[in-house]
Amino acid sequence: MRTVYVNGEYLPETEAKVSIFDRGFLMADGVYEVTSVLGGKLIDFEGHRVRLERSLNELGMQKPPAFDDLLDIHRELVRANGIDEGMIYLQITRGSAGDRDFAFPDEETTKPTLVLFTQNKPGLANSPAAKTGIKVISIEDIRWGRRDIKTVQLLYPSMGKMMAKKAGCDDAWMVEDGAVTEGTSNNAYIVKGNRIITRQLSHDILHGITRAAVLRFAREAQMEVEERAFTIAEAQEADEAFITSASAFVMPVVEIDGTKIGTGTPGNVATRLREIYLDESMKAAV
Ligand code: PDD
Repeated sequence: MRTVYVNGEYLPETEAKVSIFDRGFLMADGVYEVTSVLGGKLIDFEGHRVRLERSLNELGMQKPPAFDDLLDIHRELVRANGIDEGMIYLQITRGSAGDRDFAFPDEETTKPTLVLFTQNKPGLANSPAAKTGIKVISIEDIRWGRRDIKTVQLLYPSMGKMMAKKAGCDDAWMVEDGAVTEGTSNNAYIVKGNRIITRQLSHDILHGITRAAVLRFAREAQMEVEERAFTIAEAQEADEAFITSASAFVMPVVEIDGTKIGTGTPGNVATRLREIYLDESMKAAV
């Protein structure tokens, strides 16, 4: 049984409880982070911590009292659960005011809820999907206008994942005004020649922590990076496509809406970037 963390306490998962009035549950009034663990160490912890603080600020949500102890809490959960490869899920909500009300509760009396738990995924770095690549479909992006804030409003991304599964695919790329925004839970890229193309940062996409690292490694390896929007048609004619996220790292995409990308197998750029990303981030893991 997992040991999880709730508001200052480490507990067996069956004993961890959150109120039915919690605003995360009633209003999706919460933010989250997913940090991967490789070799028992945290990948890009500082990037996730900084983005979490930004999400809280953008929503006017106060930090939980344990905010400054987050690194220790992550490490303790890794230790207590013997995680070698996997993820740590963290969620902060605006807490429970003991009733349902659209107005935010008084910060003096209602403290945020902080929950963390581990997900054990042996073999995460050596995923078989990285060797074959994944297939995606495109769907309309009908999410709200602040996708740069990592909120727990994940109903539409979940529906997108189910639409993909129903179509015999692995994931969905979302399209707005004719251009790809991002994947259901990852950032989207295409490769043309030696040039990596991915949508520019704005309120339209999540500012991926893996994205920032991968673009830095790509530039260091003298690859060209162009941050701009692209269409599904352009992606279907690209040499390669891939996604990035804390749980998928760099994952090749070999088919979009039934059209094979390049040779229909993982491309050289995606494969190389995955290797560099795993090597470099494991070296820097804490
Ligand atoms: N998802 N875009 C969206 C919509 C995401 O949900 C995620 C992450 C990303 C990639 O961000 P990062 O590289 O910081 O993980 C992009 C996490 C992994 C999830 O929901 O499980």
